[in-house]
Amino acid sequence: MKLAIIGDLQYWKAEVENLGFKMEQIKKFDPAFSFVMGDVGGSQMRSEEGLLETKEYVSRVGCPFHLIYGNHDVEYWPDNRFEYDPEGTYRKVFGESPYTSYIFNGVLVVCISIERQPYESFITPYTVYVSDKQYEWVKNEIESNKDKPCIIIAHAPVAGSGLRCERPMHNAALDTYLDHTFKPQRWVALLRDNPQIKAWVSAHFHMGHDYDTAITQRNGVVHISCGVMTCCTRDERAHTRILDITEDKRLLVYTLDHNDDKELILDAEIDLIGEEESVGRISRHGRHEILIGTDDEAQKVWYDEAHCSYFVSTKKGMLWEYSEELSDFCGAVSYEKKVENLYINKNKLIMEYPNTTLASVDLVDRGRWQYKDSLEQKIVALDELVGEKLPTVNYESYSSKEGTYIKF
Ligand SMILES: [Fe+2]
Repeated sequence: MKLAIIGDLQYWKAEVENLGFKMEQIKKFDPAFSFVMGDVGGSQMRSEEGLLETKEYVSRVGCPFHLIYGNHDVEYWPDNRFEYDPEGTYRKVFGESPYTSYIFNGVLVVCISIERQPYESFITPYTVYVSDKQYEWVKNEIESNKDKPCIIIAHAPVAGSGLRCERPMHNAALDTYLDHTFKPQRWVALLRDNPQIKAWVSAHFHMGHDYDTAITQRNGVVHISCGVMTCCTRDERAHTRILDITEDKRLLVYTLDHNDDKELILDAEIDLIGEEESVGRISRHGRHEILIGTDDEAQKVWYDEAHCSYFVSTKKGMLWEYSEELSDFCGAVSYEKKVENLYINKNKLIMEYPNTTLASVDLVDRGRWQYKDSLEQKIVALDELVGEKLPTVNYESYSSKEGTYIKF
């Protein structure tokens, strides 16, 4: 059973993008169902008109579809938070819940939809928030179908997926993985506790499929990224994913290249029930093997045993915080001044810069990560150095098509 996975539909005008033609290209491969991955509506994003336009174009694929929300569909700034009601507008246009589940050929497919973050915990508009209510629903849906293999469909990947993204924008922008800055660890735990979850399909990064890390595997779960077909591409590619859930419960993962649509490209094959190794173009990077960026490189890596985290300083002045629990960068505590040494004083991380000036951040404050979209700076200048010096750790560095990686 073929499923089309349509990535972020951000565009200026549907006619300019030739969106009708691109939907016809998908139709040629005869999907039985489509998932629209959110961030939709072109120039009319966050409006009823935008959702209706999306509905009209996606209908041209000729099969039923379900749309989940992405970050841009629900984002707001504190001063315009009453201007648009994403949940109410969704119900008006589609008459159903944006988070839902399906069973295709005996395989459970659970769709997670991004929600508006609570105003009380607002630190930046760029979030991929999920409410406790939706999380509990997802957990219950998965646990009450333990006998079925499961595929998750969500706008953003789970923390620690290792999928290709653009640094420093992603991970510093605090909307990189599901529930980033809220409760990302609960999704990691959900995968760990439910080995029947075999694949997690995400969009959001706007990257094509021809990177080694467009599909990754960690702890038995295959993470599949889905490209985009519009001008919001970050690498000139125009890709749509086609998945095929076969009757013997194998998941075939294809690329539809909108610039060369003669045939689908088979990228990977996943055994959803057995113990067979997934095959194809699947990256299996280690947990401590992480992308720094395309034009940056690491300078020093420190380990903070008390908080189970690593810190990575780069040539361009980023200071990344890596969480052991999430196996991912959870943010940048500093992003424009090179850090020479790090010290810990209880929950305070103290940064010493080459000119011997000092600053600190609170390691239990979720507002500690700094980036240009943060509302306020949480770095506090210090006059006096009181703390224990953090040890550095050895690391290796290497380059790939994705950019520079470090391994520690
Ligand atoms: Fe997005």
